[in-house]
Amino acid sequence: MIDLRSDTLTKPSPEMLAAMASADVGDEQYLEDPTVNELQRRMAELLGHEAALFLPTATMANQAALRAQTKPGGMLLAEERTHVLVYEWGGPAIHSGLVMKGVKGEAGRVTPEHIASEDRYELGPGGIIVLENSHRSSGGRIWPLDEFRATVDAAHERGVIVHLDGARLFNAAVGAGIAPTEWSRLADSVTICFSKGLGCPLGAVVAGSAAFIERAWETKNLLGGAMRQSGVLAAAALYALDHNVERLAADHERARRLAAGIGVDVGVVETNFVAIDDPGDGVPRLADRGVLVSDLRPGVLRAMTHLDVTDDDIDQAIELIPEALGTTRTAGPRAR
Ligand SMILES: Cc1ncc(COP(=O)(O)O)c(C=O)c1O
Repeated sequence: MIDLRSDTLTKPSPEMLAAMASADVGDEQYLEDPTVNELQRRMAELLGHEAALFLPTATMANQAALRAQTKPGGMLLAEERTHVLVYEWGGPAIHSGLVMKGVKGEAGRVTPEHIASEDRYELGPGGIIVLENSHRSSGGRIWPLDEFRATVDAAHERGVIVHLDGARLFNAAVGAGIAPTEWSRLADSVTICFSKGLGCPLGAVVAGSAAFIERAWETKNLLGGAMRQSGVLAAAALYALDHNVERLAADHERARRLAAGIGVDVGVVETNFVAIDDPGDGVPRLADRGVLVSDLRPGVLRAMTHLDVTDDDIDQAIELIPEALGTTRTAGPRAR
């Protein structure tokens, strides 16, 4: 089976497991885990913020950030297929009492015009705008820095906080060839996930001001997310920062090669997602031929590259996907 369902499927490498096994640990909730403390210090610096907090998942990091940044009754504005709106089980309403509003946006983006068109009484202090980069449901599109800055500025002019869901910010950074800080320092808080393209078994951080991180700790505790000797997990994240960031470029190249090979527009493949039109039964049809994919959004399948997808997997997928879907394979040599 060629498994292209998600970049969350990676298994920790022997080298990552060795780093985890030899981690120096302590009780995280007492702030005594040196490896967690080092990860938090390093991530705060890397993201251009005062402090960072380690959490088990990016969902929990987003939810902790939303609760720490908002007041019940405030509006959460985001592009309509943003992860916090669609895939976090109503968490912003349940945990933070937010009224969630999705707007239609190109490639997952909220624009200054969207913000300007909101009623000041609805979207004002107490509310929040969530921006996602790279943006999952648009197929891993990267937010151009100038457009991102214009949206953040428009939010701040209205006195509204901005949270960046940067679960895959490293993919965006490697794809655009700029540092993740360029986006993250503009937002008031930012989430990063380690269990996707970076290959860790779990782990995420949220970063922001020191005061924000104190409030985020409260939510982490409230959600039951305070951990103990979690340095074994933070060690995986530190290993990933040193070894698995630059190599994301190889995942992106494989995604482009797959797209070109199966006749998908390569111009929209900016990171590790390939979006494929779904004839309706695409998932089982592809599974029958030995290729696993999942849903990107209604009517569209996603094939994702990651650490455990090889060049040979891509070669085979280029043969099998068009056969299974009855589409035409792009002619020409199978250049890598
Ligand atoms: C953009 C985005 N944010 C957040 C998450 C949540 O990550 P986790 O599975 O670590 O909770 C995901 C998961 O796929 C995601 O794609």
